[in-house]
Amino acid sequence: MQTEVNSITLNYRDQGQGTPLLLVHAFPLSGTMWQPQIDVLSEQFRVIAPDLRGFGKSAVPPGPYAMEIFADDLAGLLDTLNIERVVLGGLSMGGYIAFAFWRKYATRVQALVLSDTRANADTEEGKAGRETNAQIAEAQGPGAIADQMLPKLLATNASPELQAQVRGIIERNSPQGIAGALRGMALRPDSTGLLPQISVPTLFLVGMEDTLTTPDVMREMQTAVPNSRLVEIPGAAHVASLENPAAFNTALSEFLRTL
Ligand code: MLT
Repeated sequence: MQTEVNSITLNYRDQGQGTPLLLVHAFPLSGTMWQPQIDVLSEQFRVIAPDLRGFGKSAVPPGPYAMEIFADDLAGLLDTLNIERVVLGGLSMGGYIAFAFWRKYATRVQALVLSDTRANADTEEGKAGRETNAQIAEAQGPGAIADQMLPKLLATNASPELQAQVRGIIERNSPQGIAGALRGMALRPDSTGLLPQISVPTLFLVGMEDTLTTPDVMREMQTAVPNSRLVEIPGAAHVASLENPAAFNTALSEFLRTL
C-alpha cells in the first residue's frame, strides 16, 4: 500500500487487527525484512511495516535523512491510518528512529520494542566512516554496501538462502537512499540520557551473536530502562528477526500479550 506523507510517497504493509504494532526496519534493508513477523503476528495484532523514505518502494528524496525526519514520516503515516498510539518496534537503525520518535511523540507510544540497537551517537571515526560509505554507495551502488555489511548483519553460519535474501533486499535499494540514511545516522544525538525516562513497557531483543550491537551493550541499555526486559535470541546475529523468526516472534508476542 502507498500513501502521501510529508510530501513524499511512503510504501507500507498493514495486516491484521488489534493492538497496532509499527515495525521500523534496519539499515540498509526495507519493510520487507519484517515479513516473518507480519506472517505470524498479524494473526493476533495489526502489524504495520513501512519502507522508510529512501528505501524499498518509498520515494527517495534528497538526504540526509535525520532520524527525526524518519520519525515525522512515521507520525504522518499513523495520522493517515487514524492510529493514535502504537507499540513501536525498531531494529538497529529502526531503534535509533524509535528514540527520535520517543523524543517527539512519546504520548503516541504504548510500548517499545528495541532490537539489536544502541543508544549512543556515532564517534567521530564512525561519522567519517558513514561519509566514506555514503560515497561508496553513490559511486559503486548498493552491491558494494551489501558486500561490506552482510558479514556483520548475519551470523557466520547463515544459510546461503538467507544471505541471498538479505542481499536482494539491500540491492533493491537506491544509492541515494542508502547515502541519505548513512549521513542521517551520523547526525543522530546520543539517546543514553533518554533511557531512564522511558516510562512505557519496553522489550529488548538481541541476537546472541550480534557483533554490531552486542548482548553486553543491550544489557547495559536494558538496565537503564525502568519497566523493561531483555530476551536473547539464539542462532542469530544482528538481524535477529530474520535469522531466528520463531524465537523472535515468540518473545514479541508474549510481550504484546502482557500489554
Ligand atoms: C542497522 O542494522 O540498521 C545498521 O547496522 C545501523 C548502523 O549502521 O548503525
